[in-house]
Amino acid sequence: MKFTAFTIFLATAVATVSAKSWNIAKDLDEGVRANLCALQIQTCQNNCGGPSKAPMAFCNETTIAWGCGCLLKTPDFETWNWPVPAADCKGSNDACVANCNTGEGDRSGCFIKCQDTHKCNTNFAPVSYTDTADIAIVPDYVGPAVSYKGERLDDLNDGNDRSNLDDSSSSKNQSDGDNNNSSSGKSSSGKSSDSSSSDATSTFKTTGLALIVVVAAAAAF
Ligand SMILES: *[C@@H]1O[C@H](CO)[C@@H](O)[C@H](O)[C@H]1NC(C)=O
Ligand SMILES: *[C@@H]1O[C@H](CO)[C@@H](O)[C@H](O)[C@H]1NC(C)=O
Ligand SMILES: *[C@@H]1O[C@H](CO)[C@@H](O)[C@H](O)[C@H]1NC(C)=O
Ligand SMILES: *[C@@H]1O[C@H](CO)[C@@H](O)[C@H](O)[C@H]1NC(C)=O
Repeated sequence: MKFTAFTIFLATAVATVSAKSWNIAKDLDEGVRANLCALQIQTCQNNCGGPSKAPMAFCNETTIAWGCGCLLKTPDFETWNWPVPAADCKGSNDACVANCNTGEGDRSGCFIKCQDTHKCNTNFAPVSYTDTADIAIVPDYVGPAVSYKGERLDDLNDGNDRSNLDDSSSSKNQSDGDNNNSSSGKSSSGKSSDSSSSDATSTFKTTGLALIVVVAAAAAF
């Protein structure tokens, strides 16, 4: 079984379950949102050194607005690895793959583009516009297609129109999710030496996860 044929089969399987226009609050069902939020809050509290040291650790189960602020330190979890941004990237990627499958033109080129623009759990992942200053603030969800590293990304192809947003001098700068007592700008701090290996790891993990989806889908039929 060759990779390309397998990828097309995979995309077909994913297409039947993916929304065309990705929105993390609308497209994840209630139970999944609750689990994701619990994980987000727990990850924040752990990073801060315990719940009592995390005065700002929230995640809204309806909107997925999240934030993390520690008492004694700046949260130092990489922004793209927080549970919510990671899930947002994965959902956008799945929508991208689904849209390749239903769209016209070169599908395998389209799938490769999804991989190139969705290097989830790395500095090259698209910024997730889900973090807010307060639990009641509704996130933007969609913003300019840039990576955490600050690079402009091609069309994310997740069904969201960014044509009026796709300007790096946009009024709203990328936020890093660490809203409290933190100074931003850590996204380009000295991590570049591992970035290629974490890309490879991420791609591998994504493929592995997709494989599980296919196996699950096959079992269902
Ligand atoms: C930091 O978090 C506390 C507790 O949630 C809040 O009262 C305060 O306004 C926050 N500060 C900033 C700058 O967001
Ligand atoms: C932030 O820093 C201030 C002063 O350093 C401190 O009083 C406060 O408890 C810290 N945490 C939050 C969440 O505001
Ligand atoms: C979640 O956000 C919505 C929309 O702003 C708000 O009405 C709701 O109260 C928030 N949930 C919590 C638990 O604060
Ligand atoms: C947004 O980023 C640009 C370029 O990095 C900077 O010049 C500008 O002051 C920032 N705006 C805000 C509101 O932080």
